[in-house]
This record gives sequence, C-alpha cells and structure tokens, in this order.
Amino acid sequence: MRILVIGSGAREHALLRGLSTDPATTELHVAPGNAGLGSIATVHPGIKADDPEAVTALAKELNSDLVVIGPEIPLVAGVADALRAAGIAVFGPNKDAARIEGSKAFAKDVMAAQGVRTAHAEAITPGASSEDIDAAIDRFGPTWVVKDDGLAAGKGVVVTPDRAAARAHVDAVLEGGNPVLLESFLDGPEVSLFCLVDGETVVPLLPAQDHKRAYDNDEGPNTGGMGAYAPLPWLPEDGVQRIVDEVCVPVAREMVARGCAYSGLLYAGIAWGAEGPAVVEFNCRFGDPETQAVLALLKTPLAVLLNAVATGTLAEQPALEWEDAYALTVVLASYNYPEAPRIGDVIRNADADNVLHAGTALNAEGELVSAGGRVLNVIGVGETLEAARDNAYTTIKDIELEGSHYRSDIALAALEGRISI
Ligand code: GLY
Repeated sequence: MRILVIGSGAREHALLRGLSTDPATTELHVAPGNAGLGSIATVHPGIKADDPEAVTALAKELNSDLVVIGPEIPLVAGVADALRAAGIAVFGPNKDAARIEGSKAFAKDVMAAQGVRTAHAEAITPGASSEDIDAAIDRFGPTWVVKDDGLAAGKGVVVTPDRAAARAHVDAVLEGGNPVLLESFLDGPEVSLFCLVDGETVVPLLPAQDHKRAYDNDEGPNTGGMGAYAPLPWLPEDGVQRIVDEVCVPVAREMVARGCAYSGLLYAGIAWGAEGPAVVEFNCRFGDPETQAVLALLKTPLAVLLNAVATGTLAEQPALEWEDAYALTVVLASYNYPEAPRIGDVIRNADADNVLHAGTALNAEGELVSAGGRVLNVIGVGETLEAARDNAYTTIKDIELEGSHYRSDIALAALEGRISI
C-alpha cells in the first residue's frame, strides 16, 4: 500500500512508525511533515494540510492507495471529502461528520438525541449584551468551564474557580468572533478513549489519560497535552465497554441516522464521575499526545486496520492485539509554551529511538531547532507503569533545548494509586 499521512506533529510520527512496521505498507509519504520524519517517509513540506485541492493533487501524483489525515483542521475543512470524491481511500471523517469536533453545539445535539450523558451547556453568541453574559455566567460555577466553540487545538478551554477569569475568557473568545459554550463542571478522572468507527461498527483502542495543564500537579494553563499514558490501571474492568455502549455506539448510530455516517477515529473525552462516564468533548481524530502512548502498544498491523476503516470493512477485521505492557509519553515544550512559544532554539541529544518529533525544523546551518510549542515526545514502554516512566524520563533528561520544560509527573498519580472512581 502506498500511504500518504497528512500532518506534522508527534501524533503523525507515531502513525508513520506504526504504518512502517506493517508488511502491507510499500511506500510512506507525509505532508507537510517535520524535520524528524525524513528517515521514515518521503516528506512533502510545501503542502498545506487544510487545502483540499493541494492534498488531493499530491495523493493523485503519488498514486496513493490510502491517505491518513492526522489533525482536525483538514477534516473540518473537507479534505477527506475531496479525496473521496477523487476515488481515494481516506482515513478520517467527511466535513459534515467532523462537526462532532468542529461544532460543540452540534456534538451536544447529537448527544441529546441519544441520551448520552454530558455536561449541561449554554451558548453565548458574539453580540450578546454584557448583562446577558453576566447572567449566563451566574447560572454556572464555581467551577466555570468556558469553551471556544471552534477549533482551538485543545487550548480553547478555561476551567477556573475564578469568576473574573471565566468572564475574561468569554470576552476573549467572543471578540475573536466565535460563540462560547458555558458548561457545568464534570467531576472525576478523565479518560481518552479512541474508537475506530466505520458506520455503526465501533472498535475501541486502549484507554489513555492526557495531562492537559502545563505544569506538575495539574497547575498552570491548559495546553494541547503535556503527556499521556495507557492503559489505565484504575479504570474498572468494564470501563471501556461502558464508554463504548453508553457513548460511542449511540453517537455512531445517530450520525448514521443523520446521514453523516462516521468513518475514522472518534475520540471520546470522558470524565468518570459518580454516575459513570460523561462526555467532556469529542474529537474527530487521533488525540495528541495519547496516540503516541496507545500506538506504542498496538501489535495489530496498523495499515491494514486503518485501510479497513477507510474501505468500510472494519467489521471483518480480527480482534485487536496489544502488548501486555504500559506506555507513556512525555512532551518536551519550548520556552514560554503555551503562552508565546519561542522557536529557533537548537536541540541536542534527541537521537534516541524513543524520541518522536513534533515542532522541529532544520536551520540554515542544518541544525535541528524548535519550530513550535510542543517540540518532541519521548516514549517509554515497560511491563509496569514505573518501568515505562523510567524509560521515558531517562531519555528526556538528556535532551538539550534552552528554556524548555516538561512535566515530571506523567502517570505518577496512577502509579501511586491516587486515582479512584
Ligand atoms: N489530547 C488532547 C487532544 O488531542 O485534543
């Protein structure tokens, strides 16, 4: 299979690694890619990932058998639609199905139609009066959950006990021209469950947990994700099946009923509270950085699996096989991430096999430099969570990047038995 992957982060690096070990893969390409991907795939840096014509033209030129779309922006922009219209198999939902992430209001409507448990929400649209905004804020909190009802790469959410901070985020999002969602706060540990979805066929991957705050002990601003681990030792034995039965299958069924059948990866962001799993958000693609941990444990050949989703034959696939182990990933972030990440700093000692590239580039001297907020991901795999952590932290502490930071407590609460439901 000649496969083209769209995207440029560590998630795409993890996908490329998984695809490269499948004997069915004969050629691997990535666009636009990053500085770390040239050894695993042919990189096409000039392509804009969210340009349907450009991506389709490249896929045609490469005679691609399968295109795997990593990020949400191309999916919401209709890149999968354009590829399908050209007769090319694609892993990723069409534009109308990608609204499950692209419009929080659409996702709420789908959930309401199927009785899926989620937070109560109210939308505030640009142009609302200051009095109406205050009244809406007073119907919620504390704690306040304020979401940008657009694509924000996981960074558009503010969760705060501070009313003034909630109001400031509402104002900032409205000034940007997007509606805002106020949501009731869902308590309980979070689970990221990724499901392969092909119409009404739903196949879950291992459950993972992200660490969204910038600093240890869940302090600091929200980020795109600073680390993750899988599987979750604290999740009840029937936990994954409950999320599948109570959330993912009803949503997949509702999408079929609405004429926008889902094909791709449905990411259910769950809070497991006293009443069981409730949806915090959906994403229409693999999560980043959870994918880097989850795929490190997948034994089933990835290219055949993603192709089965893309060609509508997921139901015919054998059960997934997994390593009996734990995996985690730690993100190395650049100076001042997430506020205003500095780029262009030289990176040294990042050659280990368990390093995945995200925001990296080569400078004029050919040195590896930072080119984004989340720069590298280090993967650790082990028979225990402790061994997986040791593995990742032994590598990351030797990487040099001036001003960079990483969390030292990825999976620590789980390891110390501090998570219970
Ligand atoms: N891990 C958060 C996200 O992928 O949006």
